[in-house]
Amino acid sequence: MPKARSEFLCRECGYKNPRSLGRCPECDAWGSFDELLERAPPLASVVRVAPARPERLSEIETSDFHRLPVGVEEFARVLGGGLVRGSLTLIGGDPGVGKSTLLTQVANQVARTAGEVLYVSGEESVAQVGMRAKRMGLNAHNLLFLSETDADIIVETIRSSGACLAIIDSIQSVMASDVEALPGSVTQLRECALRFLQLAKSTGTPVFLVGHVTKDGSIAGPKVLEHMVDTVLYLEGERFNQYRLLRSTKNRFGPTREVGVFEMLGQGLVEVANPSAVFLAERGASAPGSVVTVAMEGARPILEEIQALVSKSSLAMPRRTATGFDANRLHLVTAVVSRRLGVPLYDQDVYLNVVGGLRVDEPSADLAAALAIVSSVRDHPLPTDMVAVGEIGLSGELRGVGQLEQRLREATKLGFSSALVPHSAAQRLPHNLGLVAIPVATLRDAVRTLGM
Ligand code: TYD
Ligand code: MG
Repeated sequence: MPKARSEFLCRECGYKNPRSLGRCPECDAWGSFDELLERAPPLASVVRVAPARPERLSEIETSDFHRLPVGVEEFARVLGGGLVRGSLTLIGGDPGVGKSTLLTQVANQVARTAGEVLYVSGEESVAQVGMRAKRMGLNAHNLLFLSETDADIIVETIRSSGACLAIIDSIQSVMASDVEALPGSVTQLRECALRFLQLAKSTGTPVFLVGHVTKDGSIAGPKVLEHMVDTVLYLEGERFNQYRLLRSTKNRFGPTREVGVFEMLGQGLVEVANPSAVFLAERGASAPGSVVTVAMEGARPILEEIQALVSKSSLAMPRRTATGFDANRLHLVTAVVSRRLGVPLYDQDVYLNVVGGLRVDEPSADLAAALAIVSSVRDHPLPTDMVAVGEIGLSGELRGVGQLEQRLREATKLGFSSALVPHSAAQRLPHNLGLVAIPVATLRDAVRTLGM
């Protein structure tokens, strides 16, 4: 009988090592190694040698994947359409962000139109999940709940039920009884996920796995599962903010970087069809330090308000605080502002905030950030019907950004009448945008144009 082999795996990044390490050499996480017990291969696998039959490209059926309608628009958008038969999808997110809420709603919608949906909860009792579903006003007759943690029992239940969708909430709570490892460990996670993968592929039932992401807890993160599943979605949101963003970081059946926007309300997560309007809703009359930019969230332009506050510092090292904005980019922008515009910031604290708990990860927001800072320093409010889009280079020049036309069209839709855009990109813009595009070559140009 071959012996079982053991290996250690970083639960943050999946790095493998024959021994446990205090610190992962790959991702620098501390104390992140879990033992991975590989089961000894059964003897039968050595004997089974029937050849497989590869298929010619010309013989492969190329009809689009059969997709089940989801009924929750924002969710379907992120999936790239509907649910693909036999697909395995991982949905990650911090505890309490709303994964169970969202999936209960999706389960209800699918159950109303497509057939039976099995929602397996390993963390909550049937009474608990049922109560939540009823409180959210869900009532699909075909929505079935099961409270179970044994992987094999769950697999058999799904197989015999013929459900058209199965949801496992969460993969960390499920365990395979024949694997000697604690629930939530890397070994259990991979073993259980593998069983659900086989189930999905053999029955065609799409399966959703919920996975908690914990930064420093002892529960293995879903990172180690990402390569096994077809699609990886992350539900993100600030704890004290009602908006949630659903992103796909991997999708074998559609584009990634798509974003769905939801709002957490008393009756569950409500889709936000026009996020720009919502994020700008609380904007007051013109105030110094506030500039609107248009960022791309996946394929979708979203208007975001950037606020800056510059105030005299009492510290030897003045503060540079960014919320929702990359801290390194803030340093770069403040350096360009002080060097190229001669605005003294060396004794000033600079706070930069993206309103609404959003995150901007794009250099296209540089111009808006720089203008917000200058506007705050000069106490000079900017026009409220203007957006600013552009990346700033180190010599203060403005650089073009992708999909400028699409961004400006979104701004027009929300009633903005002018836009500061990089000079280089302005020539390629069509004339029927519905707003005035003001080309500027440098940050200094932009500031002068605005009379600051
Ligand atoms: P939950 O879906 O249980 O989070 P997860 O499964 O990701 O751990 O949702 C947790 C939070 O959502 C909870 O703190 C309360 C809030 N919530 C609402 O605000 N409204 C609702 O209708 C529901 C069901 C939850
Ligand atoms: Mg939950």
